[in-house]
Amino acid sequence: MIKFVNNYLVPTASIGPPLLPGKYKSVNCSILSVNGLFSTFAPMSTRKLYIETYGCQMNVVDSEVVAAILQQHQYQLTEDIDEADLVLVNTCSIRDNAEQRVRARLRDFRKIKKQERPVSIGVIGCMAERLKEKLLEEESIVDLVVGPDAYRDLPALLQEVESGQKGINTILSLKETYGDIRPVRMDRNHVTSFVSIMRGCNNFCAYCVVPGTRGRERSRDPETIVREATDLFSKGYREVTLLGQNVNSYRWKEGGSLLKFEKLLERVADIDPAFRVRFATSHPKDMSDQLLKVIAQYPNLCRSIHLPVQSGSTTVLERMKRRYTREHYMERITAIRKQVPGASISTDIIAGFCGETEEEHQQTLSLMEWAEYDFAYMFKYSERPETHAAEKLEDDVPEAIKRRRLHEIIELQSRLSLKSKQQDVGQTFEVLVEGTSKKSEEQLYGRTSQNKVVVFPKNKLKPGDYTEVTISACTSATLIGS
Ligand code: 5AD
Ligand code: SF4
Repeated sequence: MIKFVNNYLVPTASIGPPLLPGKYKSVNCSILSVNGLFSTFAPMSTRKLYIETYGCQMNVVDSEVVAAILQQHQYQLTEDIDEADLVLVNTCSIRDNAEQRVRARLRDFRKIKKQERPVSIGVIGCMAERLKEKLLEEESIVDLVVGPDAYRDLPALLQEVESGQKGINTILSLKETYGDIRPVRMDRNHVTSFVSIMRGCNNFCAYCVVPGTRGRERSRDPETIVREATDLFSKGYREVTLLGQNVNSYRWKEGGSLLKFEKLLERVADIDPAFRVRFATSHPKDMSDQLLKVIAQYPNLCRSIHLPVQSGSTTVLERMKRRYTREHYMERITAIRKQVPGASISTDIIAGFCGETEEEHQQTLSLMEWAEYDFAYMFKYSERPETHAAEKLEDDVPEAIKRRRLHEIIELQSRLSLKSKQQDVGQTFEVLVEGTSKKSEEQLYGRTSQNKVVVFPKNKLKPGDYTEVTISACTSATLIGS
């Protein structure tokens, strides 16, 4: 089983929409079997892998890449951790609580280690990269530590583990994109999927650990992106989200010509008008008019833009090293509203960053009111080691004040989210059916182009169909259709 666990307070990130809170996706994929060097290990054909994924959608795609790499070494996926020969935890370091959850999970795994049958336990992803050997020292049950750019080395590292050693590779790369690897899809609905278009980040926002854990920015060969997306469409998928930490800076140079994100988006949108395309995440400093023009031209480019603001105060943005002002951000929102009418806009907000005054916090609230966000991911600032903020700024907003400010931000967003949904009541939207509603077998759920979830009667529809739904009611999270 591959289990995805969201670490966000509410459902993406400078990385792309994360999973809904508390939502666990379990997925089958076939995986692993390394040549057994010692007879205590299960024979090759019976090797079973269990993966748990924490964090953003980048990590979800990475788990799919890991599954593909290990599948080639005959590892078979299991949904039952008790029958696994290899347990991998794909981890997130973005906030301290994300790491604490993984630590707690590793404590749970101690009982698996006590079984008679040998089980190897690996930590992969951002936490592996950040903590390196320390993880092996601090968590005695861990056999394997592999950073985000070293997944191709997994089969070799597993051989080391089988010979009784610990395996570790946390080397970051300037080139690795796993562009040639066809991920083993782990989604449940077979309608919506993700394609990674770039890795790493060069932005170095003061609070963020990602440039340290995922390395320098690099773009993936567009041919492999278009091929992967085309393959998804031909298999019946009807929506793809192109993922990167900062998709607007996607660039691919070949034979003297430069392909930028707008062009890539056009190429993916051209695959088929019935193939919806989303992307995440955009950086406000790089969100161009050219990109908005392309979105406006293609009805299958979704009317939903995620533009993390982080703070509504120019002075906080300066300390965060975001490289835009409140006014620039507002100008970009105005451009979106003008060029792509009807688009929903979502954001990420951090409460209580270093030195944040009450007035600066109020500016975040007033920007939210002005922008009328349809949706937001909201976080309390968490100091991360080795970031600019940890080294140069003081984490001086008391915990109780951070909590109160976050609460105010969440309260305001609940009101804005409800208002956004209420405005949809009475209107008709094209909805892509994703599956059966959790609450009733007679109801389906799907999404509008604006990324709003709609629940509606089944009729004869099935996942992957498009249907027109008139909205008759709503909650702050869901549209109810007829
Ligand atoms: N503390 C709190 N939130 C953070 N984010 C990134 N780093 C931190 C941190 N140190 C948030 C930002 C980003 C999202 C992925 O996570 O809002 O956009
Ligand atoms: Fe994703 Fe890593 Fe960032 Fe977590 S720290 S959100 S896993 S890129």
